[in-house]
Amino acid sequence: MKKKLGPRPALYPLPATLVGATVGGKPNYLTVAHVGILDLRTVSLGMNKAHHTNSGIKENGTFSVNIPPERLVRETDYCGLVSGTKADKARLFESFYGELETAPMIMECPLNLECRLVQTVDMPNHDIFIGEVVQVYCDEECLEGDSIDFLKVQPLLFAMGSPGKMATSSGYYSLGARLAPAWNIGKELMK
Ligand SMILES: Cc1cc2nc3c(=O)[nH]c(=O)nc-3n(C[C@H](O)[C@H](O)[C@H](O)COP(=O)(O)O)c2cc1C
Repeated sequence: MKKKLGPRPALYPLPATLVGATVGGKPNYLTVAHVGILDLRTVSLGMNKAHHTNSGIKENGTFSVNIPPERLVRETDYCGLVSGTKADKARLFESFYGELETAPMIMECPLNLECRLVQTVDMPNHDIFIGEVVQVYCDEECLEGDSIDFLKVQPLLFAMGSPGKMATSSGYYSLGARLAPAWNIGKELMK
């Protein structure tokens, strides 16, 4: 039997990311799990209009998406609990900058996407920021040739069981083992 749960954000797990922007001339980072890939060079973020980072993204037209490893689970949660209006969250990390100059990125995160804002979709409480990825930075230790080895990146996966009980039903998870090669294992059913 299936139980109807009503509309809710059930499309988990998603990576817990740290999004960076320059706000009032300073780097700021917040936790964002509602991220997506729109095409091979375009990403999306769902960001509450009230967040401190929101104004910085609009001001500069740039942002970064950083993939924190498992060892940064406390820092990642902290950046999602505390606003940059109350604390200097960037002090936790070493920031670096790329070609866009106003999209701060986190050295301690093995994978960083530097993005230019290309479109903003205005939703009632959130803005959907659509960004063109202008550069991707990856720690050499997490590469297998040109490919990113996600088992070495050790991303934090985030899932929320019930939007009404966020503190008790949501959590961070590890990536498990690779089950099978993609665009390949299905060939066994082509016979
Ligand atoms: C695990 C986790 C995931 C989050 N995902 C999002 C998200 O996808 N979109 C969003 O607007 N806020 C999200 N938040 C909330 C913001 O990170 C949080 O309100 C933050 O303190 C805002 O920081 P700022 O005011 O410095 O921008 C998330 C928080 C946590 C802990």
